[in-house]
Amino acid sequence: MAQYGYFDDAHREFVITRPDTPLPWLNMLGQDEFYGLCTQTAGGYSFWKDARLRRLTRYRYNNNPMDNDGRFLYVKQGKSVWSPGWKPVRTKLDAYECRHGLGYTRIKGRKDGVEVEQLMFVPPQENLEIWKIYVRNKTKKTQKLTLFSFVEFCFFEALNDMTNYQRTYSIGEVEIEGSGIYHKTEYRERRNHYTLFGCTRKVDGYDTSRDAFVGVHHGLHDPKAVFAGKCTNSHAYGWNPVGAHQINLTLKPGAEETFAFVLAYVEQGDLPKFDAPFVMNKTKGREILKKYSDLAAVDAAFASVKQRWEDLLSIYQSPDVPNEHLRRMVNTWNQVQCMATFNLSRASSGYETGIGRGMGYRDSNQDILGFVHLLPERARQRILDIASTQLSDGTCFHQYQPLTKKGNADIGGGFNDDPLWLILSTAAYIRETGDTSILDEPCGYADKPGSKDTLLHHIETSVSYTLNNRGPHGLPLIGHADWNDCLNLNCFSKEPNESFQVTGDIAGSKAESVMIAGLFLYAARDLAALYRFMGKADDAARIDGHYADMLKTVEEQAWDGAWYTRAFDAAGNPVGSKSCKEGKIFIESQAWCVLGGAGQTNGRARKALQAVAKYLYTPEHGCALQYPPYSEYHLELGEVSSYPPGYKENAGVFSHNNTWIHIGWTMFGEGDKALEYYLSICPSAKKDHDKYRSEPYVYAQMTASQFSPTPGEGKNSWLTGTSAWSFVTASQSILGVQPEFTGVKVDPCIPKKWKGYTVQRKFRGVTYTIEVKNPKGKSKGVKSLLVDGAKVAGNIVPPPTDGRKTVQVEVILGA
Ligand code: BGC
Ligand code: NOJ
Repeated sequence: MAQYGYFDDAHREFVITRPDTPLPWLNMLGQDEFYGLCTQTAGGYSFWKDARLRRLTRYRYNNNPMDNDGRFLYVKQGKSVWSPGWKPVRTKLDAYECRHGLGYTRIKGRKDGVEVEQLMFVPPQENLEIWKIYVRNKTKKTQKLTLFSFVEFCFFEALNDMTNYQRTYSIGEVEIEGSGIYHKTEYRERRNHYTLFGCTRKVDGYDTSRDAFVGVHHGLHDPKAVFAGKCTNSHAYGWNPVGAHQINLTLKPGAEETFAFVLAYVEQGDLPKFDAPFVMNKTKGREILKKYSDLAAVDAAFASVKQRWEDLLSIYQSPDVPNEHLRRMVNTWNQVQCMATFNLSRASSGYETGIGRGMGYRDSNQDILGFVHLLPERARQRILDIASTQLSDGTCFHQYQPLTKKGNADIGGGFNDDPLWLILSTAAYIRETGDTSILDEPCGYADKPGSKDTLLHHIETSVSYTLNNRGPHGLPLIGHADWNDCLNLNCFSKEPNESFQVTGDIAGSKAESVMIAGLFLYAARDLAALYRFMGKADDAARIDGHYADMLKTVEEQAWDGAWYTRAFDAAGNPVGSKSCKEGKIFIESQAWCVLGGAGQTNGRARKALQAVAKYLYTPEHGCALQYPPYSEYHLELGEVSSYPPGYKENAGVFSHNNTWIHIGWTMFGEGDKALEYYLSICPSAKKDHDKYRSEPYVYAQMTASQFSPTPGEGKNSWLTGTSAWSFVTASQSILGVQPEFTGVKVDPCIPKKWKGYTVQRKFRGVTYTIEVKNPKGKSKGVKSLLVDGAKVAGNIVPPPTDGRKTVQVEVILGA
């Protein structure tokens, strides 16, 4: 079993010790408007706000080798050519290390006594990334070498960029000024922005034509200019503009040279576009290079990246959690992933190309659950943006483009779970902040431009939509699909070139979803509690009534004997029932009926979880989505039956839905099970990286299940709803610190042998230090709650009324 790296928890870094990881291991740079994907070999690309509409550098997906474009450096030293990140040249290095940290990646490579370090990060609130470079002579002899930088520019609109060569090969334009390479394709006409790739020191040459620097018949692993030892000072006119600098260095024994490269997205704003015909006004670009030519400014920018993360993470910290995997995930990496999913939704990762999907309606609402504590103001805005893509009949655009905030139906529509997730995100925001004013914010409907309907109006529209669109069993109609995008009960697709996600007529269909019924129960409880908090007892009672009706329907119509049925198809036949030949039991209906409060009084909830344990769970990989997998394609079920057994929605381990089961166990006080299940999908706990292959520090969307030939193989890391829900599971359900409308609720559910732990939680401007003690070896139940030494009944810590900013809480389990 090969060893690829380790966690350096003290520095909140994952250290990769060899570059040939089983798959590219990615990090995410940037958290405002400028983003970069960066792998352990400096692969990846950068974009501003929108990976489709403002892509700055190129990246070729589905390539071989994988991950073959990026922020590359080449060293020419005598006859040898190497890259400090190993790729693209792949010359064997004498030493290599990559540290993925919070918002930065630091790669170090050494060959023949010369070490090159490349530290990449995006300063807060700036539209640029910096690569700080250190070149060190570790020998006792003077070393002469040439260093080259390289990026390939993207023409901003990524889809056109990678498909329309008859045009794109004739539009590329650049300007060069000193060490600044200005990529200005389409700037003469409709664009008012450009990309700058510059160096903070004087350069000895440059190239901007890919053909000149790399060569038409060469690759990034053997660029002509590098092997020749010098750039050609080429000026791209059409074809493929690149940015490459040449820097000649002579280093005395032990000497170090430092400088930086800056890749910036610049909007010209009101400045004149040109100084002279064809000569762009470069004022802003020059200012950027000037600012960072002072390396103290580079260091200050890096320090602020680190400080920002320290500040964010200080909102929730539990440094002494007894389990190391849960500890590092909840304190660091899970929160980092929550930031990424909040920012990028499902748009841009190693698996999401930035042109396929944008901000998902259901996805982004769920992402807020794991993010809202970090930056509630941004969550607030996001909720309003998402709500604005709902239509006035209650349906929603399934996604929107981040740049335009306009919804679209490119990946389908009519997913009937979509409207309800808005209630969960809004409730989470108000629990975190107490700010109910968000409900009065006008956010209109996508089909009523200029409409001023409030967020609360949207929420009530979502409730009515679900109630008014029910099928023969009284259960919510599924529409195109529910959370399981692949349960396409109205698709009936026979044409291989059709997308399952957009095909099918849902009008008049009777197909129903038990998962949506469960989600409705959950949302209704949230909403009723919110109304109660707001003193609106009548509204709360009205919603309680809908809750009771839906609960009755679920119990009468959806119990299959030992678990909850998943759905009823368009012909009224059950899906996920013992009467089915395949797909007898699905995870989502167990999860959502339990989370929604079904089966509490009649023992069914526990039975449903036990059925999950029996048919779906393995401790090594987690819970498969359903059982048995479909071995044949079912016209009436759609994409779910299209995947090979054990992959994706056809009985793969879909980590996202596993987390709901973890929460389910905590509802029953099963702290040992909750942790065991939590660890079954936890990336940090994966032991065999050759088998798991994906990053050990972030969740993957899915792991091949026990029903596949490659059980345990992780896929589609980073952008998954698993992130938010795992953070909710760990921070709220297991460690038990739950933001409530009226204060911080403490309700842990932990393994019996845990003796205790502390959580530091900043909440509404007050820092709570919550010490949980477990003297009697219990899993759940608060016996006593002391707030600053005074006994408080129940388990909600009320916010201080006397202006105290720190509160000490002692919780003893054992009720
Ligand atoms: C995938 C789903 C995904 C959907 C998005 C499907 O091909 O299997 O996981 O939600 O595409 O459009
Ligand atoms: C991934 C999608 O992003 C999400 O919206 C969906 O719920 C799951 N796949 C399950 O199909």
